[in-house]
Order: sequence, then structure tokens, then C-alpha cells
Amino acid sequence: MTRAIRSSVMTSPFAARYDSGAVRPAPGRRQALIPMPSPRVLLPAGLIEARVHELAAAIDRDVPTPLHVIGVLTGAFVFVADLVRALRGPLTVDFIAASSYAGTSTSGQVRLLQDTTLPLDGRDVLLVEDIVDTGLTLQALQDHLRARAPRSLRTVALLDKPSRRRAGVRLDYVGFTIPDVFVVGYGLDYEGRYRNLPGVAELADE
Ligand code: IMP
Repeated sequence: MTRAIRSSVMTSPFAARYDSGAVRPAPGRRQALIPMPSPRVLLPAGLIEARVHELAAAIDRDVPTPLHVIGVLTGAFVFVADLVRALRGPLTVDFIAASSYAGTSTSGQVRLLQDTTLPLDGRDVLLVEDIVDTGLTLQALQDHLRARAPRSLRTVALLDKPSRRRAGVRLDYVGFTIPDVFVVGYGLDYEGRYRNLPGVAELADE
């Protein structure tokens, strides 16, 4: 599975590695480079843009308006920004923040870091996630939001890693299904870095 995606990426005209951003010594200083992995592009920005427009068209068709969009911070901020601008119907936007990750692995404990600010009762809610891995974060967030009595609750995730699922969560829309690799870019981070990469890339050891 991993190989299939890698080889299709390697034959793509977009195939590339992002600059690792390794810390370089000041000119004239004799320090070694501090090595950082160079993320390998899996999903180039243009491919994501096209898929976001397809998702928006499907959501516009299915979901009554006004839509209430809730983005999951921090990883989904780029996806939310692109998705809401591709949606045609009237909508409102709010954010929620949860955390379960340390480095490249999940702790299994989901913590609510920041709640939404607007009431949900009677609203048609679209929860926007960056990536669903074990599903534990999404399960906790869906339970939390359902308890606030929205009229409907749908979920869209840009990325889905179904091979690592531990919770049976419902995903209404998925951008891309990916293998079990750690990815960064397009809002996703490793230790707070790489969120500004325009596409999604695999962070592999060199
Ligand atoms: P889950 O609870 O295991 O489904 O994890 C979901 C959260 O973990 C996501 O919202 C991300 O913040 C983070 N996460 C999972 N996989 C990755 C990854 O490959 N790269 C960056 N963050 C990830």
C-alpha cells in the first residue's frame, strides 16, 4: 500500500522533497548541520485543491443551509479555510481544539483544549478534521458535540488512515485514504513544524 502511493508519487511531475529546513551554521562557523527529515510529497497542493472542490460540491448537494462549520484545531485550519471558500451556501464557522498526540504517536487520551463558542442546538453541523487515525479524537469530539443537540452532525476528514482504527466512527466525507505513514503539511505538524507546507508529505527517517 505504502509502495503503491510512493511509486505513483515518484512518477508524478510533482514528485519532490520539501526543503528540510535544517538549521545551518552562520557563515564562517564550523558547526555541523542539525539534521531534520525532508518530507516526501505524497499529495501535491494542486491535487488537494481539486479534491477540496469535489468535497465542497458534494456537501453543498447534501447538507441543508445555513451550515455550521466546526474546524478541529490546530491541524484542520488550512483545510477549513479552503473548504469554506469552496462551499457555495451560507455558513458560520467555529473551532474546537483537542489533543491526543505526542510526537508521532497517539497517547490514546483525548483532551478537550478549547470548546466551541456558538450554540449548536438546531444547527446543521459539519465537523472538519484534518486526519482520522485511531478515531479516538473524532469519537470524543462527535460525542461531545452530539450532547449539545445539533439538528444534524456530519463529519468531513481530509485524510483517513483506516488501518489504525480503534474506534468505530462515522465519516461522511473523506478527501484521501492513506496508508499508515506519518504525514505533515497542509496544516498537519510534527512537533509544531511543517504546517505551512502547501501539500501533504510523508515524514520518514532519512
Ligand atoms: P486519532 O485520535 O488517533 O484519530 O488522531 C487524530 C489526530 O492525531 C489528528 O487530528 C492529528 O492531530 C493527529 N495525527 C494523526 N495522524 C497524524 C499524522 O500522520 N500526522 C500529523 N498528525 C496526525
